[in-house]
Amino acid sequence: MDRYAVIGHPIKHSQSPFIHHQFAEQTSQAIDYQRLLAPLDGFADSLQHFAREGGQGCNITVPFKTQAMDIADELTERAELAGAVNTLQLLPDGRWLGDNTDGAGLVMDLKRLGFELAGANILLLGAGGAARGAVSPLLDEQPAKLVVANRTPARATELAQRFSHLGNIISEPLAALDSGFDIIINSTSASLQGENLSLDPQVCHGQTRVYDMMYGQEETPFMAWARELGVEHRFDGLGMLVGQAAESFYLWRNVRPNIMPVLVSLRAKLD
Ligand code: ATR
Repeated sequence: MDRYAVIGHPIKHSQSPFIHHQFAEQTSQAIDYQRLLAPLDGFADSLQHFAREGGQGCNITVPFKTQAMDIADELTERAELAGAVNTLQLLPDGRWLGDNTDGAGLVMDLKRLGFELAGANILLLGAGGAARGAVSPLLDEQPAKLVVANRTPARATELAQRFSHLGNIISEPLAALDSGFDIIINSTSASLQGENLSLDPQVCHGQTRVYDMMYGQEETPFMAWARELGVEHRFDGLGMLVGQAAESFYLWRNVRPNIMPVLVSLRAKLD
């Protein structure tokens, strides 16, 4: 049986084994998928050990995504653009291919939810690793404009400059944003500290759709802010989690699993 794993620190709350075992059952693939806790200073050793034990591929999560990029012998273009690797695949010659499926998972989920990305004015909140992974897949969808805004404005400016050759991307200060975005995506980790982003309500219009990459049993401050403003279409990032997993599964197994039933059972499991 081919072996896969998710490697991180901490790891015990990862839903990836649940998701991948469901994909495997659905597509009749015989795989084993486990959680692997790597010591904070021992990611490379853990990966090597996993490969020696027959590991064929793995997902990488916090805080090892940048190290995984350094270890990969070859990178997909989207991993290179994202500056991080969330999926490793052992190639037949024993080298590691590094990929990043986070942005594809996000776009897959936005489309599933009926977001019209082409021609849209999109606001992306945050300029960290999660934002960086999302930019190129979002620009691929040809939005009218992608505005990046961040607590530390210099990081947003840097991000916009880095991707300016791929489409219409600019940075704006959080305190002086344009009004009336069609889509607002929160990639910040502000919710983890229970903090709000103090956005001007004018960033929304009557039909604005919002998406928070975070998910959890509790409504995030960003989602609560949107609800209080009367934004009807609000979505959390659980579908992105399943979407990025589906892309990894496809890379490893060359079979596309159906996301919906897995998302439904994951939602039920977490509620
Ligand atoms: P990730 O990989 O999850 O993106 P990261 O690279 O540490 O993690 O980035 C975290 C993002 O959340 C950054 O954009 C950060 O803003 P700064 O660049 O100013 O640090 C943003 N963030 C975290 N806590 C925040 C808060 N309380 N308010 C606003 N933004 C916050």
